[in-house]
Amino acid sequence: MDKKNKSIWGTRIKGKTSSIFQKVSSSIEIDKRLFKEDILASIAHVEMLNKQKIISFKIKNKIIWGLNKIQNQIIKKKYVFNYQDEDIHMSIEKKLFELIGEDAGYIHTARSRNDQVLVDFKMWMINSNNKLIKILDQTINNFLKIAEKNIYTIMPGFTHLKNAQPISFAHYILAYVEMFSRDRQRLKNNFTNLKENPLGSGALSGTSFNIDRNFTTKKLGFKVPTSNSIDTVSNRDFVLDFLFASSVCAMHISRLAEEFIIWNSDGFRLITLNDNIVTGSSIMPQKKNPDPLEFLRGKVSNSYGNLFSMMTILKGLPLSYFKDLQDDKKIVFDTFDNLIDSIKVLNEVLKNFSVNKNEMLNLAKRGHITATDLADYLVKNLNYPFRKSYQITAKVVNYCEKNKKNLSDLSYKELKVMEPNIKEDVIKIFDLNNSVNSKKSYAGTSFENIKKMIKKYKNA
Ligand code: ARG
Repeated sequence: MDKKNKSIWGTRIKGKTSSIFQKVSSSIEIDKRLFKEDILASIAHVEMLNKQKIISFKIKNKIIWGLNKIQNQIIKKKYVFNYQDEDIHMSIEKKLFELIGEDAGYIHTARSRNDQVLVDFKMWMINSNNKLIKILDQTINNFLKIAEKNIYTIMPGFTHLKNAQPISFAHYILAYVEMFSRDRQRLKNNFTNLKENPLGSGALSGTSFNIDRNFTTKKLGFKVPTSNSIDTVSNRDFVLDFLFASSVCAMHISRLAEEFIIWNSDGFRLITLNDNIVTGSSIMPQKKNPDPLEFLRGKVSNSYGNLFSMMTILKGLPLSYFKDLQDDKKIVFDTFDNLIDSIKVLNEVLKNFSVNKNEMLNLAKRGHITATDLADYLVKNLNYPFRKSYQITAKVVNYCEKNKKNLSDLSYKELKVMEPNIKEDVIKIFDLNNSVNSKKSYAGTSFENIKKMIKKYKNA
């Protein structure tokens, strides 16, 4: 690119680029978001070039001066992003020519936009992964606060959305701690690949200049340089890893949103959402709708869509760089922005609902929820095989249903008719607290287990 605003390839390509193509293929409105990373990487690059005696000290300083000036202009919004400059890399290089003249041309020695864009993008992703990890820490803390307050809150645990076995509400909440901890770990796992430095791979085959890739690796906070220049510029696996990790996290949010919508419904009333996380109806004055939760439930579609877009771009794409790949940034930025907003909304929800303990308990009293406890009792006390105990219990439940009774309404006498060997202490089996607290197996819902787990998560 020279001062007369001619494109870099103007000497070779005489005709003007189709204006419609120029317009649609320009990515500057999207990748301008990488300006800080681009400048950081360029500074590290020219420092390395100077250290290796590829460019002079004077030119290195001149370039760095220009880059810092550009950075200031962008931050102060005094910089014009022109779509005709195609992308952030070309735009900054062009501006550098305007500021320091011909010497700007040394900046692109021993690099290509193919490795340049990747070093910027990976640095941005490392930073953004850290942001997500931090905000997920808050989410997990919010869950832990709810759990601590609800160790003794009894609710029905569901399978198939039918009452199954009683649980502590804290135990349910801690299930989400596990899910979001895995999301956080999935993002952390991605650092291994993200921290391989692409810079120095050139267009695809490396470079004949005596560069020092370890220098830029260290300088830019990477762990090691990538090992194969062709793979480096073709590889977008780290993009897929990010999109997958984000999709799983968004899916977890969606599952929670759906459960909370159900529990907040008039049929269930297990929780109540505060006014700041509901919206009204334009016609029905009584309504308080859980719109933020519905927003969260739906948003997962954004992550899934982006994941599949990227998978489709990569399918069948030969090595190494192709324009097809340029959309990776639009896809990742979109997923990131949506996910971080979703987690913020989720954090608001977690701080703004109340638990209707009585409703939870009342619902837990329905559906013969302690039937498994009775079957277990028969195994333990009468030494029956589990299947025999199961059948006896099924008959007891049938009896209850026929006589419109709950298991806990049964007298010892009634039970004895159905199972003559039964002892009087069977009655305690139908107590919900007793049932919950009996699940002492590791990871079960007993109160002691829950307390231990909360401690474990807090110390993690
Ligand atoms: N804007 C381009 C992208 O993001 C940078 C790499 C361009 N390389 C090239 N050979 N056209 O993919």
